[in-house]
Amino acid sequence: MQHPKKEQTFVIIKPDGVQRSLIGEIISRFERVGLKITAMKLLVPEAEQCWKHYNKDDAWFQTKGDRIVKNREENNMPIDKPAIEYGRDIIGQLVTFMTAGPVLAMVIEGNQAVGIVTKLVGGTEPLTSDIGTIRGDYTLDSYELSGIDERAVRNLIHCSDKPEEAEREIKIWFDEKEIISYRSINEAMLYDVNLDGILE
Ligand code: CMP
Repeated sequence: MQHPKKEQTFVIIKPDGVQRSLIGEIISRFERVGLKITAMKLLVPEAEQCWKHYNKDDAWFQTKGDRIVKNREENNMPIDKPAIEYGRDIIGQLVTFMTAGPVLAMVIEGNQAVGIVTKLVGGTEPLTSDIGTIRGDYTLDSYELSGIDERAVRNLIHCSDKPEEAEREIKIWFDEKEIISYRSINEAMLYDVNLDGILE
C-alpha cells in the first residue's frame, strides 16, 4: 500500500488566475499548509486536452442544465433548447476559456492532498465559496452572471475532487517523467515518527 502522505492531486490555475497575477498568492496557500509541489508547468492548453479533462456525463449535464434553465426563466430569457444542451454548453464555454491564455498546471502531494486542496480552493461557485478560501477571497463571479453572458464561470482554479479523478487528470497534463519524487525538509516535522535530529 502507498503511504497516505503520497496522495496526489491535480491543480490548474486558470487563465483568470494567471492574468490577475494571483499565481504566487495561490501557490503560497498550498505551500504553507505543508503540501509539496511535485510537478508544475505554464502552458496554453489544447482544446482537445481540455475536452478530455472535462469528461462529464449526461447526469452532470442535466443537473447543471436544469439550473441554467431555471435562471433563464427567472431572468425572462428565451429557452431554445433542452436543459441537457445548456449543460453541455458549459464545457464548450470552459474550453474556450481555458484555451484563451496560459494556465499553470501542478501536481500537489501530501496527506489527503485531494481533500485538503478542495477545502483550500473553496466551493466551485465564487459567490458561495467560503471567506478564507482561494475562490472566496479572490473572485466574485456567479453561475447566474456567467450563465446570462454564456461564458465560463471565472473561478480561478480547478482541482480534482477524488483521488481516482486526480490520477486520470494528471495523465492528461503530465508525462510520468515530469513528476519529481523528492524529499522535502518540512516532511520530517509533518510526518516523521521519531523527532530526532532537532536538538543538538
Ligand atoms: P472546475 O473546477 O474547473 O470543474 C468543473 C467546472 O464546471 C467548474 O470548474 C465550473 O467552471 C463549471 N461549472 C460547474 N457547475 C457549473 C454551473 N452550474 N454553471 C456554470 N459552470 C459550471
